[in-house]
Amino acid sequence: MIKAVRGTRDLLPPETALWNHVESVVRDVFRAYNFQEIRTPIFEKTELFARGVGEETDIVSKEMYTFSDPMPAILLKRYQSPESGAQSVRETVLLSDLLEVQQQSLTLRPENTAGVVRAYIEHKLEARGLNKLYYIGPQFRRERPQKGRYRQFYQIGAEVIGPATSGSESPARDAELLEMLATLLDRLGIKDWNLQLNSVGSSSDRVRYNDALRKALEPVKDKMCGDCQRRAVTNPLRVLDCKVPEDQPIIETLPRIFDYLDDASKKHFEEVKAILESVGVPFEINHRLVRGLDYYTRTAFEFTHGALGAQNAILGGGRYDGLAELLGSPQPAPGIGFAIGEDRLVMALQESAGDVQQKPDVYIAPLGAGMNREAAKLARELRGSSIVAELGDETFRLKKSFETADKIGARFILIVGENEVKAETFALKNLKSGEQVSVPRGQLGQRIHL
Ligand code: HAM
Repeated sequence: MIKAVRGTRDLLPPETALWNHVESVVRDVFRAYNFQEIRTPIFEKTELFARGVGEETDIVSKEMYTFSDPMPAILLKRYQSPESGAQSVRETVLLSDLLEVQQQSLTLRPENTAGVVRAYIEHKLEARGLNKLYYIGPQFRRERPQKGRYRQFYQIGAEVIGPATSGSESPARDAELLEMLATLLDRLGIKDWNLQLNSVGSSSDRVRYNDALRKALEPVKDKMCGDCQRRAVTNPLRVLDCKVPEDQPIIETLPRIFDYLDDASKKHFEEVKAILESVGVPFEINHRLVRGLDYYTRTAFEFTHGALGAQNAILGGGRYDGLAELLGSPQPAPGIGFAIGEDRLVMALQESAGDVQQKPDVYIAPLGAGMNREAAKLARELRGSSIVAELGDETFRLKKSFETADKIGARFILIVGENEVKAETFALKNLKSGEQVSVPRGQLGQRIHL
C-alpha cells in the first residue's frame, strides 16, 4: 500500500467543509478591505527565497525543497527535405547541445511574500493600482512534522505594497491590517486569540542590536543549550526564539530591541499602538518576538491561540520595507503583510466549534425499472432550486435506500415509483421526525426548504 508522504496529509470531508467555510469568510473580509487575489507559481527560482527570506534563516538553510531543473537548449534548425527541397522549421535537440545543458535551481515555495513582491515588480502592479493583494495556497517546508506542523501546509496571506507616496509606509497601514485580522478571527468565531506585537526596527537598528546581543551573550553563552551557543556566534537574534526552560532566565536579562530603535522607528511603533488602542484591538508587547525571516523591519506580530499546543502561532507577519529593492525593484516599495497558517486556523476552529457536517437535504430513491430517468428529472429540478440532493439507483431495494439516506444524514427521503410519477405526487419522509407526506411535484422544493 502506498501512503501519503510524511508531513503531508489528505484533507477529507467533513473537514474540507470547514476549510471552504474559512476561505469564504476570509474572501468576504478581504473584499471589505479592498484586497484582491493573486496566485503565484508553486515553485520559483531558488535565488528569490535565498535573497528575499535570507540565506541565514532556518527556512532557507535547511527547510527548502530545492531541485535542479535541466534546461536543454532547443535549437530551431532550418531543415531542407532531400526529396522535395521544401524547407521547414524543426525543433531538434542536438547531442552536442546536451553537453551544455544548463541547470537552474528551483524551489517549492516555503512562503508567499517573496513571490508576491516578485510579481508586483515583474508586472509593474503599482502602475495598475494593484497594491493590496491576498493569496490562499500550499507552502512547503522540510520541518520535523508534529501537531500543527506539516511539510505541505496552507497559508492565507495578504500584502500591502507600494511607493511611500501611496501611504504604504504609514503606521496606519500596520494598524489597519491588524484590525482586519482581529475582525477576521472574530468573524470566524475564533475565541481567545492573543496579538503579540513588537518592533524590530530598521536593518541598521538590528545590526546594532545584534552586536549588543553578541556582547551580552559572550560571558553567559557557555551556560546555555547547544543551539544557543551556536546562535550566539552566527545569529544572536535567534537566541530569543529558544524554548529550553533552563535558558529562559538568561534570555530575560539580555538587552531589548526597543532600546536600539532609532527615533523614526520608535515613533512609527507608538503610532501603530495608538491606532490599535483607538479602534479597540487588544495587544501585548512581546520584546522577544523577532520572527524567523530576514526581511522584517519595524512592526512584527503574531496571533497565538491557547488550544494549539507547542505550535501556537495561528499567523505571523510584519513590515518589510526594503524587500522590493532587494528583489530588484527600481523604486522603493515599502510593504507589510501576514500569513495565517490555515491548518492551524482550522484546528483552532475545531477546538471551539467542532466539524461543520455537510449533509444533503434529500435522498431521492428511484423504485423499480425505468425510474432512474424520472428521478434524474426530479433531482435536476430540485438542485435547480438550491436543494442539495443525493440520487440513489433503481436497482436498490427500498430498505437499502433508507439505510443509505440514513448513513449520509439526509433530512428527507423522496420515493420515486411508477405510481408517484403517474400521480405527479411523491412520498416525502422526514427522516428525523418520521413524518411522511404526499407532496405534489410543484411543491416539493418548498416543502424540503422548510
Ligand atoms: P511564517 O511565520 O513563517 O511567516 O508563517 C506564517 C504562519 O504559517 C505561521 O504562523 C503558521 O501558522 C504557519 N506555518 C508556518 N510553517 C508551518 C508548518 N510547517 N506547518 C503548518 N503551519 C505552518 C511567513 O510565512 C511570512 N511570509 C508571513 C508574512 C507575510 N510576512 C509578511 N507578509
